Formats: sequence, structure tokens, C-alpha cells
Amino acid sequence: MRFRVHPVNRLRGTAEVPGDKSISHRAALLGALAEGVTEIHGCLEAEDCLRTLAAVGALGADVTRKGPGHYRVAGAGRHGLHESDDVIDCGNSGTTARLLLGVLAGQPFCTLLTGDASLRRRPMARVTEPLGRMGATIVGRAQATRLPLAVQGARPLRAIAHTSPVASAQVKSAVLLAGLYADGPVSVHEPAPSRDHSERMLRRFGARLRAEGTAVRLEPGDLYGTTVHVPGDISSAAFLLVAAAIVRDAEVSVTRVGVNPTRTGILTVLEAMGARVEVARAEEDEDIEPTANLTLGAAELRAVRVGGPLVPRLIDEVPALAVAAVVARGLTTIGDAGELRVKESDRIATLAREFGKMGVRVEERADGMVIEGPQPFRGARVASGGDHRMAMALVVAGLVADGETVVEDTACVATSFPQFVETLNGLAGGPAVTVEA
Ligand code: S3P
Repeated sequence: MRFRVHPVNRLRGTAEVPGDKSISHRAALLGALAEGVTEIHGCLEAEDCLRTLAAVGALGADVTRKGPGHYRVAGAGRHGLHESDDVIDCGNSGTTARLLLGVLAGQPFCTLLTGDASLRRRPMARVTEPLGRMGATIVGRAQATRLPLAVQGARPLRAIAHTSPVASAQVKSAVLLAGLYADGPVSVHEPAPSRDHSERMLRRFGARLRAEGTAVRLEPGDLYGTTVHVPGDISSAAFLLVAAAIVRDAEVSVTRVGVNPTRTGILTVLEAMGARVEVARAEEDEDIEPTANLTLGAAELRAVRVGGPLVPRLIDEVPALAVAAVVARGLTTIGDAGELRVKESDRIATLAREFGKMGVRVEERADGMVIEGPQPFRGARVASGGDHRMAMALVVAGLVADGETVVEDTACVATSFPQFVETLNGLAGGPAVTVEA
């Protein structure tokens, strides 16, 4: 599948984005481990989260789709999952693979996990190493550091205090989920705060958990089913917001977006670049996750420096942010972001290569990039490399390019934002993006 992108001068209106991917995964997993029923509203129905729902179904939870985005998960209970009769395919989803590894570490049976070509290249040692220390047996490719992997869980697991070398919510969550099966409290310490959706949701499901700075400690215990309302995904909204910041005549509102402070780095940076960002907080803030309506309009953008603890707060938004940096005046530097190299693609290399085809120079660094703006995007034939966020970033670049842009290999957008083209065309008031088989 490919997208043909026509430049636009105007982008206006109000849009919705689908449910938050990170939160949807966690609702499905915790629902499966809980006693009783969990109702999930606003669940992201995109390939990544459908993988997690299918996986927990294969392991013994009873999952029913009640309507669009509405799932009922009858939990198997902490000790009630059973062996799957087939390999579990996590598709493109790192969150499915890494969080499931945490759950499976505590199951007294064997599970085989695999994924697509991108996921089979991604590093798993960051979770298999601590889970191995807790007592799980994990074997697989490259000394159990790449999928496919086989996990033989153990019960109880040994309680550990894990210091993660990377700020990764997937690592933190995997150890905490395994910690539900440990013989004492487990703790995870990370170099900078990563998204805390697991902590918030575990508490909501009744877990005893304490967070202090960059450390979190969980006591093993049962979980109880609950109702989860999933807010819109700020990582999907980011593409619309950046488009609104760079298209000449633009004002875009995105409603009911999750604004958990561990995820709002993109808003901090767009403001620092000179964009007008309006955040209207919704009232039901006592729910698990805060939400807001976000409004952004076109602005003269200036360059920024991004690094340190800001990076985990916007790691998935770097492809969108890089588009803004090309349009902004001055030298934008993104550092401390070596993790970009092990996402769905090597996003530093993919950005440099594909922007290069559009006549834009991106200087690659080991842990980030330098972009001098403003540079004009030239319409060209580019490719996503199978990476959903790269596909969407290239479309946004195409909206302000000189001439038509063709983005190849775009079926991957369905992993996180299946309605992306429709939503963008709604704001453009016409077919800015057309889809070709
Ligand atoms: C995620 C955590 C982040 C993020 C990914 C989703 C999660 O990955 O990039 O898209 O849901 O926990 P890391 O934990 O590897 O930083």
C-alpha cells in the first residue's frame, strides 16, 4: 500500500484520535490477570493491541468485543492462565512481547513467542536478563536476546531490585508484572522517568505499589477487575498537531487526548518552538489518566535542543518532531535518544535517509540528530521502512512539500492509527492524501 500526498495550505477543525496504545495493552493484560471482569472502553483497535488481546485469549482469559473499542475481559485470575496450544505471534508490537514476557515469567508452563521481521530484530535482553535472574528459564535466538523465544516460567519468582540501564516503560512493566509472582517486593530503578501507565493501572486493579522518584516498588498480590476508560493517544495526536504547526493556515483541536505528564514532552517542545498550544483539561481527572482537549495553530517555529529526561517523555514523537525541526529556524539538536535506533525501525537512520530523498539534510548522531532549518521539503518517492510512525511523519512532511510526495509501504499505519488518512483529510477538507493498493 502507498499514500500519495498533495501539499495543502489549510488545515482546520476538530479531530479525535483512537485510544492510547500503551494504555490499551495494559488494560488487556491486567484484565486477563485479574479476578472478575474488566470492561475496557475506548480500547485501541489497531494491530498491536489486537495482538495483546489475542495473546491473553490464547492464554485463558475470556475476551469479548461488545462494540467499537469496547471489550469485556473475564480475567483468569493471577494463577488461572493456561498454556497456549500454539506459538503467540506479537506481530510488530514490542509492548506485547516485552510485557507478556514479564507475565509469562511467572507461569508454570512453557510459551513460545515470535513477531514480525522488525520485532525479531529488536533487543529483548533488557527484559530476559532480569526475568532470568528472577528464576524464569528463557531460551531463544542470540542467547535469548531476540525473538522467537521460549519461556518456561517459575513460581514463586525471586524478588529482585532491578536497576535498568535504559529509561524504558516496557522493561519496568515486565519486571513489575513478573513481580506479581515473586516471593517478596520487587523494585525497578531507571535512569529517568519513563511512562507510568503500568503503575497507575496496577494500583487501579488493586496492586500495592509505591513510586518514589525514578524507583517503583511492588508487593505481590491479586488483581481485581475494573472499568478502564482509555484516553486518545497523544502519540497519534502528535502527527496532527505538528501538521497544524507547519501548514500555513491551520488551527486544529484534538479532543480527549491523554496528557499524562510522562507523555507530554511533545507539547513542551512545540511550545518551546513557538507554537501556540492550548491545553483544556477535562474534569474527570480522578480517573486513571488525565485527559485534555488540545488546540494548536500555525506559527513561526524556532529550533530547540532536546535531551536528558525530556527524551523518554517524547521518544515516540521524534519522527513528527523532526518534521517540525526542518521547518523551524535554527539548529535543532536531539540527543540522549539512542533508543531511537531500536524502535520499529532505526529511526535516526530512516529519518536521515528518507528526508534526504526530499532534499533535506539531517545529520545523524549516534544518539540523535542535528537538523538545520528552515529547509524546503521537495516532493519525492519515500518509504516508511515498515515503521508506522515514519510513514505518518513522511505524510506530514508531504503536506508542506513542494510537489507531490509518494510514501511507500504504508500498511504499517494500521499498527497504531488505522484512521490516520481519513482524519487528516477531514482536517484538510479534501483528499490531501489518497491511498493506493
Ligand atoms: C511503550 C514504551 C516505549 C515506547 C513504546 C511503548 C510502552 O518503549 O517507545 O512505543 O507501552 O511501554 P520503551 O519502553 O522501549 O522505551
